[in-house]
Amino acid sequence: MVKITFIDPEGTTTVVEAKPGQTLLEIAEDHGAKLGSACGGVCACSSCHCYIRQGLDDLPEMEDDEEDRLDMGFDVRPYSRLGCQVKVPEDCEPLVVEISQESIETWYNEHPEHRHEQQKKGA
Ligand code: FES
Repeated sequence: MVKITFIDPEGTTTVVEAKPGQTLLEIAEDHGAKLGSACGGVCACSSCHCYIRQGLDDLPEMEDDEEDRLDMGFDVRPYSRLGCQVKVPEDCEPLVVEISQESIETWYNEHPEHRHEQQKKGA
């Protein structure tokens, strides 16, 4: 199992133990972390954009498709990845994954029943 810490722009931290072979998006969805997925995880948007704050070197290299989609993202950084394209490898140190603002906004659009939480936190 690999320890993954998701941190969202509201400051909520979700710590999980994940099975290698799953994508960051699948893991986030299984554990309620607010990582958006407008295209359903098929590398056709950039709404699962996240920042790998720790463990980037342990992750598989980015494919061309992911790089092309990331170009459509906002505030892309050298440690940006698309959560639906990153499979957690077997030998992986603990990861720290920061969810981008564009991703959490997509998540709220997909979960309007939680929108009141966002308004309360002023995000
Ligand atoms: Fe659309 Fe990842 S969910 S690219």
